[in-house]
Amino acid sequence: MNLLFIGDVYSSVGRNALAWNLAELQATYGVQMTIVNAENAAGGFGVTPQIADDMLSLGVDAITTGNHVWDKRDFFEYLDRNPRVTRPANYPKELPGRGLIYVEARNGVRVAILNLQGRALMTPLDCPFRKADELIAEIPTDVKVRFVDFHAELTSEKVAMGWHLDGRVSAVIGTHTHIPTADTRILAGGTAYQTDAGMTGPYDGVIGADKELVLKKFLTSLPVRLEASKKGGELHGVVIDIDETTGQARSIERVTRKMAS
Ligand code: FE2
Repeated sequence: MNLLFIGDVYSSVGRNALAWNLAELQATYGVQMTIVNAENAAGGFGVTPQIADDMLSLGVDAITTGNHVWDKRDFFEYLDRNPRVTRPANYPKELPGRGLIYVEARNGVRVAILNLQGRALMTPLDCPFRKADELIAEIPTDVKVRFVDFHAELTSEKVAMGWHLDGRVSAVIGTHTHIPTADTRILAGGTAYQTDAGMTGPYDGVIGADKELVLKKFLTSLPVRLEASKKGGELHGVVIDIDETTGQARSIERVTRKMAS
């Protein structure tokens, strides 16, 4: 089966890139499961219930998030209410939402989706490696197709997670840095891996934000309120072919779509 994962949707530019390209990508690759990281979908800061509902109506099957999931207060209740949405599993368990969900793909296969967040240069959360061990042990053995979104800053932490979970999940794909990496491969144990899926949003800025404002911040060291860049819309993600009888990945390929500017 083919699983499409689309990297961090950023602002209306990213939402438009998703809306314009999703049906074509699903048809071109014969996609049975579409997962989207939406943590920056609301102007770069978090995601709202309306935006998440719109994505699910478009044909997205599940939504993952990251550190920005807490930016919009009205999303807290939505996290508890919607079983197709995750937040990183290694935040305190008292917080709303789930880090591990099960969603049925278009071909009837039940897919486990695990969302974790890194600790290097980020909030010091529970250990994502041990949290992954704990949650993977909970996944029923007949759920073979297992997708992990590891939302982390540091490439080394992400590569380490790939090796840690190799052979135990179908794919480990990194998010958060908004820069797609070229290390797309299948690890020795059959796990598809890429350090970062890249952003689906405006590439004319600095990881999504308006470049003039970011430069002002770097050049003056003063606090500057950042806004989303408006130009250079691109969609980035991966398509992974997974053998649903074993859970092993057969292939992984990067996908990119550029919006006319
Ligand atoms: Fe993030």
